[in-house]
Amino acid sequence: MLGSDPAVPAMSEEEFRLLRELFHAHCGLWFRDDNRYLLERRLGPRVQALGLRDFSDYHRHLRFDPGREAELDEATDVITTNETYFFREPYQLRAFSSEILPALARRNAGERRLRILSAGCSTGEEVYTVAMLVRESRLFEGWDVDVVGCDISRRCVAHARAGAYGEHAFRNPEVEPLRRWFRLRGGKWAVEEAIRRSVRFQRENLLDPGALATVPRLDAVFCRNVMIYFDLEARRRVLARLHEKLRPGGWLLLGHSESLLNVTAAFELVHLEDDLVYRRPEGPEEWP
Ligand SMILES: C[S@@+](CC[C@H](N)C(=O)[O-])C[C@H]1O[C@@H](n2cnc3c(N)ncnc32)[C@H](O)[C@@H]1O
Repeated sequence: MLGSDPAVPAMSEEEFRLLRELFHAHCGLWFRDDNRYLLERRLGPRVQALGLRDFSDYHRHLRFDPGREAELDEATDVITTNETYFFREPYQLRAFSSEILPALARRNAGERRLRILSAGCSTGEEVYTVAMLVRESRLFEGWDVDVVGCDISRRCVAHARAGAYGEHAFRNPEVEPLRRWFRLRGGKWAVEEAIRRSVRFQRENLLDPGALATVPRLDAVFCRNVMIYFDLEARRRVLARLHEKLRPGGWLLLGHSESLLNVTAAFELVHLEDDLVYRRPEGPEEWP
């Protein structure tokens, strides 16, 4: 029930509408009509922390207060869903290891460079998983390898950089062979230095017009379980940016429930043995 905790103000229909428009414009997230309670629950503590009366005041604060940028960061930290874990969606990672990485090793053999992005990497598990798979493939020894993770959430990027995880991050049993890349320290599993040195993290809002400006042209992008929270317009904006950043023939790996059907025809579907993935077509074509 809305407003069931008396210490947290209830969010009216009008406040919900204003706040969801604001967050949609900021980062693409779209809260459906039945998400009012979710937003109320996640943002209520922010209203209290700022000593504000209600969500109308909070909306005004986010729009006009001199500290609005900092508060938008705080709000983004609490409204995003950051669920992730090591070796998520294993059939796709098997396809990545057994088909995509060997194809990239052949294709880039001349320049000996590999560039991979995890867009919306949350607390970093996906990035470290990818870096470990690249390493375990032994196809890129002595290459210039760059594995980058980005996320809009400051808290997530800080956690990712720290590279230490509780047992819950290992809930997929298929991660076990990769456990050798961790050391148990102070009750947490810390990613080994050799792997940490091979990745980097940066804060990026994929909806920003200048997003990924410092990221080089990419061979593969993981953007899994990120756009499921966006509306169609925001999805298209992010996909246009990823299309621009991918080299022709570069791979786009989405979450298992995500399809580009009725979203864009700018990527081609490729049938691999273990999975279906997308690819930017060969050739110089720009985003249609
Ligand atoms: C559910 S997590 C997915 C993590 C990982 N890719 C996976 O599949 O396990 C979605 C992440 O997308 C991030 N995100 C949402 N909107 C974003 C935006 N506009 N720019 C960058 N990251 C965003 C969230 O902060 C969150 O950490």
